[in-house]
Amino acid sequence: MGSTNVSSFDENWLFKRYGLQADGTTVAEPANLQAVEINEVGWQRLNLPHDWAISGPFRVDLAGETGKLPYKAIGWYRKHFVMPKADKGKQIYLDFDGAMAYAKIFLNGNFVGTWPYGYSSFRMDLTPFLKFGGNNNVLAVYLNTEKWDSRWYSGAGIYRHVWMVKTAPVHVAHWGTYITTPTVCDSAANVMLKFIVDNKSNKTVNAIVKTDIFELNQDDIIGNKVASFEPSRVRILQNGNVETTLNTTIPNPKRWDIISPNRYMAQTTIHVNGKIVDKYNTIFGVRTLEFTARKGFYLNGRRVQIQGTCNHHDLGALGAAFNMSALRRQLTILKEMGCNALRTSHNPPAPELLELADKMGFLLMDEAFDSWKTGKKKMDYSVLFDEWHEKDLKAMIHRDRNNPCVFMWSIGNEVRDQRVPGITKELADFVRSEDPTRPVANGYNHPDEAREAGAPMSMDVIGINYFFSMQAKWDVDPRYSHIPNIGTETSSCVTSRGEYFLDDNGKEEEYKNYQISSYDIAHPEWGCNPDTQFRTNAILPHLLGEFVWTGFDYLGEPTPYNSDGTNLLNLSFDSKKQKELEKQLEVLRTSQAPSRSSYFGIIDLAGFPKDRYYLYQSQWRPELPMAHILPHWNWPERVGKITPVHVYTSGDEAELFINNKSMGRKKKNVGITFRIVWDSVRYEPGTIKVIAYKKGKQWATDEVKTTGEPTKLTLTADRSIIKNDGSDLSYITVAVKDKNGLTVPLAHPEINFEIEGTGEIVATDNGDATSFVPFQSHSRQAFNGLALVIVKAKKGVSGDIIVKASSDGLEIGQVTLSTK
Ligand code: GAL
Repeated sequence: MGSTNVSSFDENWLFKRYGLQADGTTVAEPANLQAVEINEVGWQRLNLPHDWAISGPFRVDLAGETGKLPYKAIGWYRKHFVMPKADKGKQIYLDFDGAMAYAKIFLNGNFVGTWPYGYSSFRMDLTPFLKFGGNNNVLAVYLNTEKWDSRWYSGAGIYRHVWMVKTAPVHVAHWGTYITTPTVCDSAANVMLKFIVDNKSNKTVNAIVKTDIFELNQDDIIGNKVASFEPSRVRILQNGNVETTLNTTIPNPKRWDIISPNRYMAQTTIHVNGKIVDKYNTIFGVRTLEFTARKGFYLNGRRVQIQGTCNHHDLGALGAAFNMSALRRQLTILKEMGCNALRTSHNPPAPELLELADKMGFLLMDEAFDSWKTGKKKMDYSVLFDEWHEKDLKAMIHRDRNNPCVFMWSIGNEVRDQRVPGITKELADFVRSEDPTRPVANGYNHPDEAREAGAPMSMDVIGINYFFSMQAKWDVDPRYSHIPNIGTETSSCVTSRGEYFLDDNGKEEEYKNYQISSYDIAHPEWGCNPDTQFRTNAILPHLLGEFVWTGFDYLGEPTPYNSDGTNLLNLSFDSKKQKELEKQLEVLRTSQAPSRSSYFGIIDLAGFPKDRYYLYQSQWRPELPMAHILPHWNWPERVGKITPVHVYTSGDEAELFINNKSMGRKKKNVGITFRIVWDSVRYEPGTIKVIAYKKGKQWATDEVKTTGEPTKLTLTADRSIIKNDGSDLSYITVAVKDKNGLTVPLAHPEINFEIEGTGEIVATDNGDATSFVPFQSHSRQAFNGLALVIVKAKKGVSGDIIVKASSDGLEIGQVTLSTK
């Protein structure tokens, strides 16, 4: 969305780190690094997006909550560029999608502006300080994460894209269009367009503004024109702006929906003296949203249960550095699971997340803050709140309010001021004044106390994080009976992919070696396993649904091996529980836990689904025939011992066979049990097979076999043709196989990666939350049979890319990719 004269400003930057260094030493920041002439010897040349902390090293002495990565530093970026003479007289802006944190922008030694909150997108006007023609311009960006405290890995640097926008002096303002659809029915959608035109010239200008609406397909190809607004004549005073509202009708609108994400594009042109001086595109969708307190949520008149996941912004091994392929892969994996909604916990996302959610059909809860006035950490958003919260809210809402995926705004997550009606109302009213078409929510972890204090009274939707035990009481509370409730955060189940811990009698042990058993039972004090939440959802069908914590594992917050005090926040009004937790945290602090990424993900950090993935899929995609068995069946030490087998299926009944012997046919107890368990199975090597049934008919099967020793590596690319644009990625899964091609579940061989041809290895991973091997390393161990290598094509070079994986004693694996 936005001005059509936009180009990437990502290439050819110089970077230098000052203040705290990766190894813990300090390098003093020289004065005046914004000056035009400085000594740039030793500065690193790079392209954006860039996260200066993801190369580590991981340090055991650093906090697990922020990924044990040295993200705190002062970062300076510089870029030299020339502006063609032909651009003189134009307005030249830089749009930063996000820079972590406390950005100060300088051009040719002059201060241009600042934006401290690292998650907000912002625009800088370079025009007053630019030189045109052959002259060199020097842009300098100062960032400081030493001043930024976080409860998760925030990343550091200009970690999202930067764009240069060139416009005529008379142009559509930044995020200057706002499209809503006040009435929608099958035969017509009434479309309302508000736009602001800026006049940055020194004279009054008369202009005509025209806007046509076109269909837009999945590949962003513009289709038929479906409607136009009446051309509008505007008179804009020098250095002023005008705001205009227009209406039109789209006949027989194609709805945007999670099952049919149809979009439209409004093309606005500004005409001065018969010439087009500015073009601006606005992508939007036509859909209806209805939130009810008693009957759930309706999208386009259809009851839709929110099957959502919360996710942080990092992209695993790439850190916070934004990459479209990486994010698209995450959403593809979530969609396959049946996830239909995303919560951008706990900050505004990269704008591309909205674009992908629009295109792929996800609802999105756009969240602004993790703190208001009272902080959770000393130097978190609370420091900025007074001066910046309106500007940051506005930046989020104005950027995102045309995106049809956005169905709810969230003003906060478990903020400490959640019981304060004043701030709550002020924020909610402010959001509604910027966009009255979507409800405002807030995530409460002390919902009962907040309700007693009256704070959620100004909410349109009350977000509950975990604490549903009082829902029955709330349901009969007349004060809030008109406000719908949603699980803004649920479950917080913790597991490590492929790890299963059992004692000699087959009893579940949850935690070992800083890993967590994957029987999907463990959760922190405030959470529950997915099954318990499903049961809660089943008895509370009038709620809107849930956002599970989390879809993907993320860097930082390795609960329960997180020795950070913010865990206490969840229970902060319960002093007894707090004391218990404090004791646990004290032990962890002295034990130097190596854990550096979360265990909450349904999918691990490398993007490999954990068992839970199939539990959610069984519940969220009931029409998909599927069955999934856990655990693996390589237990030489357990022959004859009880080894429980769990099955996740979208069927309602299943029969388990161990080496063709039936272990019995069992039924799910509808609304009560969500997995089928055989807990007296005695291990013997061989094959376990499940046949699932639905309504008495065979529905799906799954099989797990005892494997032999590892003999080879196989490589499978998620995409075998990639663009050579410098950012498109292929994610290649390396599996350790036995001679029959079965993945060996507990194999951890050291794997070396090599690449030939026109590609580069960007990062490797294996999903192990305790690994200190840098993500940039070309060798790493497999974790429970799998590893990942992420590859890109060299920019502008065509040809084949051959990726090889080798390990002592194993047959080499390889895969060939091509570029386009
Ligand atoms: C919540 C919090 C999340 C995360 C989660 C872990 O209380 O909102 O950010 O910390 O707990 O269970």
